[in-house]
Amino acid sequence: MNPTRITVVEVGPRDGLQNEPASISTADKIEFVNRLSVAGLPVIEVSAFVSPKWVPQMADATAVFAGIARRPGTRYTALVPNLAGLDRAVDAGVNEIAIFAASTETFSRRNINQTIDESFETYRQVCARAREHDLRVRGYLSTAFGCPFEGPVDPARVAELAERLVDLGAFEVSISDTIGIAHPGQVPRVLDAVLLRIPVERVALHFHDTRGTALANVLAALAYGVATFDASAGGLGGCPYAPGAAGNLATDDLIYMLDGLGIETGVTLTALSEASAFIESKLDHRLPSRFAQAVRSRF
Ligand code: HMG
Ligand code: MG
Repeated sequence: MNPTRITVVEVGPRDGLQNEPASISTADKIEFVNRLSVAGLPVIEVSAFVSPKWVPQMADATAVFAGIARRPGTRYTALVPNLAGLDRAVDAGVNEIAIFAASTETFSRRNINQTIDESFETYRQVCARAREHDLRVRGYLSTAFGCPFEGPVDPARVAELAERLVDLGAFEVSISDTIGIAHPGQVPRVLDAVLLRIPVERVALHFHDTRGTALANVLAALAYGVATFDASAGGLGGCPYAPGAAGNLATDDLIYMLDGLGIETGVTLTALSEASAFIESKLDHRLPSRFAQAVRSRF
């Protein structure tokens, strides 16, 4: 049976903007996050405390956190790749952090310059220090449905790594389709393997919509009781180290579908739509969300 309530993790300010070639001003990022807060998003991934040499768009993470107006009830989070990132995140006053491992060695090397095992050793230290600060840690597992460099990925391997993230202390693992290759035939196969190792309450899904299957994948996962989905306003997004990765599942399209199914999210679609239109006005291209396109055409 479908869950009656879903937690939507808004990743637009991080996963979305990290891949935009145009530099977005800190003030515009703050305004974007504030509008997402007003729309009622329960979790907003505001930025990433990664190396500014690797992802220049996220270099102002501290300033963005300092400028946002925090809505009670919303968790403001950020990616953290190492202890240096954790220290910056703590100073910025994050509510929780996210670590990010990969299912495939080549992607791990390209994204964080470490083998998978090396990254787990780094994250073991990050989790230990996060606990000292009473910070919850979310885990991402990239390339879980396919890798741009290595191709298909064995669901058993995904399940094993997801369990290792939980063993490190992650309260939830976001099983991520980095390159938007998953489809509703594959989602059950991956979930069947993952749910043998970790309970469904600890599973989130993170779809990119490269092939137009993201919403269908959510429907397939709802049937398994998965109740947390990542999405980005307007469908912003990609990954700078995954060639061809297109935008995330659009939060607007997801909320429209969940509203239609009578599933509660706490998100107000009209306000979310305004947040998407705001960030679109700062870009040199249209956002891919179909809902946003319909709003633009006044359908
Ligand atoms: P490295 O070059 O191996 O490490 O990078 P390093 O320790 O030699 O650091 C290089 C430089 O960065 C040094 O500066 C460090 O001080 C600095 P220098 O001495 O040359 O002046 N540095 C930092 N500065 C600020 N904050 C830090 C930090 N760490 C090092 N935290 C590293 C290793 C992990 C740092 C690097 O590879 C990195 O930052 N990678 C992040 C890449 C990234 O953000 N990718 C996108 C996010 S993942 C994603 O999008 C997937 C996801 O959406 C799910 C999905 O769809 O699959 C989550
Ligand atoms: Mg992503």
